[in-house]
Amino acid sequence: MAINKRILLGISGGIAAYKSAELVRLLRKQGAEVRVVMTQSAMEFISPLTFQALSGNPVHSELLNADAENAMGHINLARWADLLIIAPATANLIAKLSHGLADDLLSTLYLAATCPVHIAPAMNKAMWAKAVTRENIDKLQRHGITILGPEQGDQACGETGFGRMSEPVDICRHLLQALEFQNSSRLKGLKVLISAGPTREPLDPVRYITNRSSGKMGYALANAALKAGAEVTLISGPVILTAPANIEVVKVETAAQMYEAVISRAPDQAIYIGAAAVADYSPAIMQPEKIKKQDEQTMIILQKTRDILAEVAKLDKRPFTVGFAAETHKLEAYARDKLTRKKLDMIAANWVGRELGGFDSEQNALQVFWKNGQKNLAMTGKEQLAEQLIDLIAERLQE
Ligand code: PMT
Repeated sequence: MAINKRILLGISGGIAAYKSAELVRLLRKQGAEVRVVMTQSAMEFISPLTFQALSGNPVHSELLNADAENAMGHINLARWADLLIIAPATANLIAKLSHGLADDLLSTLYLAATCPVHIAPAMNKAMWAKAVTRENIDKLQRHGITILGPEQGDQACGETGFGRMSEPVDICRHLLQALEFQNSSRLKGLKVLISAGPTREPLDPVRYITNRSSGKMGYALANAALKAGAEVTLISGPVILTAPANIEVVKVETAAQMYEAVISRAPDQAIYIGAAAVADYSPAIMQPEKIKKQDEQTMIILQKTRDILAEVAKLDKRPFTVGFAAETHKLEAYARDKLTRKKLDMIAANWVGRELGGFDSEQNALQVFWKNGQKNLAMTGKEQLAEQLIDLIAERLQE
């Protein structure tokens, strides 16, 4: 498949800059037009001539250069792009982007860009693990930037750990998928309702029962549905994530509040995706005062909550209803049982309580089931996985 797209590749100053030459070659092989922007320190690692030869276009590096601005000004360059990929993105560049600094061409282009932005970080493992880098990355993710990698392995500094830039072939594959998705507008004009995050079931004014859901999977689905052209409403349990401004977010705390928020909106929607980890049981009584410590053992009486997903599927005017199944064992059997028992159109099953994936991780894998079919979506970042699931939902919806 040839992609007739314009890709702006930003390169910052890390040893992984040499890998980006291969990325340009791969993207051009797929039919993309590529323009390259380099920071001053990137040019210390690799010559702009390499990228000029590979991309077939002059390399841009200076913000305040009258000739370059006349040829294609930085605002026009930002407008020209269908997608901006920054690879490698150093810790310094990531910090600049997350704070909105614009003191060179690449950081200014990032601010001026209205197209989707993807970044492939590359740095020493300790720099990647540093709290301030984590905060900067979280902030960029909240602002809708897709983070690719980094990968684990040997590093140029001689250490081993997370920090290697993803391989060009993987970045290229990811970008092709993102561009294809961007192009499809498969949910254009459709209303999509998504639940995300945990619920909190209060025991007394200071304590509650909850679970490990971070909301990342649900928020990624909301982003993916938005990118696919949908009008998205997100019913969110208590999480620390922020959704883009053009998603309507309704914040709730308990399973009962989530039930009301979902059921009152569901009949209007084309699709409902229940990604929230809703409490199955809630304390039968919320004590009005703090429960005092007394006996060695104590009892809490729990009451079943209403099953939001099953109730949505029972509505006369029901949306295409997609559930999740979070399981620690017998994944397929339990997921299939939920699909049939709750009369769902589709169910996405994931392992939880294991080392990789599921709750509160950056990655996940899904086994998706519907009446006469199934598809496995391999372990990958939740953003990419969400796009694959939205694609699958759009496909099933059409049939
Ligand atoms: O939030 P993250 O940290 O990114 O983690 C993602 C995730 C693991 C939470 C997510 O991928 C996931 O699996 N969500 C569903 C978790 C869950 O509650 O699974 P379950 O098997 O217990 O419930 C089955 C389905 O019924 C779910 O769609 C759930 O939303 C729904 N349900 C459950 C109980 C209830 N009272 N009402 C419901 O609607």
